[in-house]
Amino acid sequence: MGILYNEQAGIFKLDALDTSYVIGIFDDERFVSHLYYGKKIIDSDVRYLYGPLYQVRPSVLPGQAGRIMDAVPFEYPTFGCGDYREHCLEVETVDGYHACDLRYEAHKIYPGKPALEGLPSTFEREAGDCNTLELVCRDKVLNLGVTLLYTVFEQLNVITRAVLVTNEESNAVYIKRALSGCVEFDHQNFDVLTLHGSWERECGPVRTPLRQGKIVTESTRGESGPTDNPFLAVLSCDATEDTGEVFAMNLVYSGNFLGVAQGHHFRGTRIVMGINPVNFSWKLEPGDTFTAPEVVMVYSDRGLGKMSRTFHDLYRGHLIRDVYPDTSRPVLINNWEATYFGFTFDRLIEIAAEASKCGIELFVLDDGWFGDRNDETKGLGDWFVNEEKLPGGIARLSKEINKLGMKFGLWIEPEMVSPDSKLFREHPDWAIQIPGRHRSLFRHQYVLDWSRREVRSHIYDMIHQVLSGANVEYIKWDMNRTLTEAASAALPADRQGELCHRYVLGVYEIMGRLREDFPSLLLENCSAGGSRFDPGVLYYSPQIWASDDSDAIERIQIEMGASMCYPLSAIGAHVSAVPNHQTGRITPLETRGYAAMAGTFGYELNIAQMSEAEKAVIREQVDIYHKYNWIVKEGDLYRIGDPFANRDHACWMVVSRDKKEALVTYIQTHALPGYFGSARKLRLKGLMDEAVYRAEVISVSSEVVNGDAHLEGGQNAGKGREVLEVSGSALMNAGYWMERLGGDYMGMMIHLKAIV
Ligand code: DGJ
Repeated sequence: MGILYNEQAGIFKLDALDTSYVIGIFDDERFVSHLYYGKKIIDSDVRYLYGPLYQVRPSVLPGQAGRIMDAVPFEYPTFGCGDYREHCLEVETVDGYHACDLRYEAHKIYPGKPALEGLPSTFEREAGDCNTLELVCRDKVLNLGVTLLYTVFEQLNVITRAVLVTNEESNAVYIKRALSGCVEFDHQNFDVLTLHGSWERECGPVRTPLRQGKIVTESTRGESGPTDNPFLAVLSCDATEDTGEVFAMNLVYSGNFLGVAQGHHFRGTRIVMGINPVNFSWKLEPGDTFTAPEVVMVYSDRGLGKMSRTFHDLYRGHLIRDVYPDTSRPVLINNWEATYFGFTFDRLIEIAAEASKCGIELFVLDDGWFGDRNDETKGLGDWFVNEEKLPGGIARLSKEINKLGMKFGLWIEPEMVSPDSKLFREHPDWAIQIPGRHRSLFRHQYVLDWSRREVRSHIYDMIHQVLSGANVEYIKWDMNRTLTEAASAALPADRQGELCHRYVLGVYEIMGRLREDFPSLLLENCSAGGSRFDPGVLYYSPQIWASDDSDAIERIQIEMGASMCYPLSAIGAHVSAVPNHQTGRITPLETRGYAAMAGTFGYELNIAQMSEAEKAVIREQVDIYHKYNWIVKEGDLYRIGDPFANRDHACWMVVSRDKKEALVTYIQTHALPGYFGSARKLRLKGLMDEAVYRAEVISVSSEVVNGDAHLEGGQNAGKGREVLEVSGSALMNAGYWMERLGGDYMGMMIHLKAIV
């Protein structure tokens, strides 16, 4: 078992695959201190980690009158008793006092992993996958029990954490902050990596040198948001994609979050992550327990690449519940960018019919099918079909789509209400608002108060009715605005700070019900693109629409950024029309396919208006997807040409688990002059040194000439079908010779198969 308790030494040692994490409990005072996190150490008695006393426990130093709490590496630091660094727990009593001091009381070690009430979390798939340590601590004055949960995944470099706070006193207390985890380091030689962006520009990695002070990533929007992702890593300053140490945190939560890396005044570093304390307060009645969501901690001794592959393995194996576990998910076509609100029954069928001829398997009807929803100003909340637009309703439409041999999917945005809707006219108080204050509109809509059971049940019942009356096999769950003036008509004054968290719990409850009631339904989440791209959502939806920016070249950056912690199989991506609707860029159809195949793969364009040559390319793409998607879905991702660092190319590859096959994608994002300008050797990764691989170019972009998106031939005509036989060691060390392609945005896909 990967968890060891040495009672005499007062030490807990948690061993994951090649990671150790050590906690110390000292003598009568029983402070819970952090002693080590990093590459596995095999000693079972690690008392030597104690070091000078004041560095691991708040001892009274000779000649000092008090303790130095501010220097101690606490496992779960609290506010109010002398630790002034970023803390995890702050509690207010009914008398208005703010102080908390936790000491070890008891512990339990057991196989498996407990679920967290009302919250998504990673799970044990097979007996023996993981073991759990529960450290029970107590503040004696408050009579507050705090259980620190640690789960060690034996076959991965993963330790997860969560926290339970229980009020065992006879008065209520108010939790002002309850973060999920903290890690201490004894130096500051780190860079900090976070993921930032904006709407249509999500998940851009930002690397900042750490020094004394704080680097913060957070959301106060009510969702995890497009500007910051709930991910934070500290990495050795010389760490690269393939070398150096990385310590990463990712919060399994979809609401307001906070991640902080603090270089503090004793030259150490503290990182914390959890629910954002801004506008948060939780009244804990006697006997009640508050559960802080899970934070996943990943350690890598080989750079960011290994960190990402560890996250991917964890999420694919222990978080995502795929409804197509053994096959590729269906290739879909979504009508949004093809028609926006301007569709008719016949136009939809026309698109679906052409799509089905190209082998596309799932037709998704996006926004605009319900209530009075003919543009974005109306109808949200009225989840009954607009029969004027769709005579015979969703039942007839889905039947017609099924007749074409395709599955049918539908868009919903259940958390929202339009002021111009039947629902809002009947229940104006159901929208989140502060009485007497202007209620902000975004995209002409308000947010429903999903902390209220009657509100979410009412919405769910309407949606349930639509889904039960037709053959709907996929749902796109959208959320197009953030929370403002956050207050609930159903909560008393001293519980208003609970709204944002209760809202998230309400969302999880309904996503959970949807999955239970319709177990074979494929759920894709979306929040104006990737504004709720987090592990909490992944527990319910195996895929998330990554961005409203469908431009292939931009999208590569978003995908590579998201791949820092999320597997490619979770990243929603579609081939869209050119000129691209967000950027105006014209890219070859094949290249758009390459970018989309680094995600879930689908289309979002009017296929009925495409030329026969373009439809032939689509048929080829669908074939490639079916032939090779298993590698993308299960394989190990290696980022090669970093689209953030390079001006001129992006390259990534996915290698099957047995290393016998791989798929390499290369895109020349900016052509450079002269043969030697754009030609380069690509050093591949993750292959077997000794194996000989057959490397075949399976697709190459056609040139774009005079704005025509697809012209066959050109400089790349001979490139397709090129086959080489070469060793893994040569491909990884000498490199694959990537010749200059014929212009901006040209690309290719290469399939490698071990033949010896
Ligand atoms: C925002 C989504 O990201 C789009 O894909 C589309 O579904 C629109 N909402 C529809 O309103």
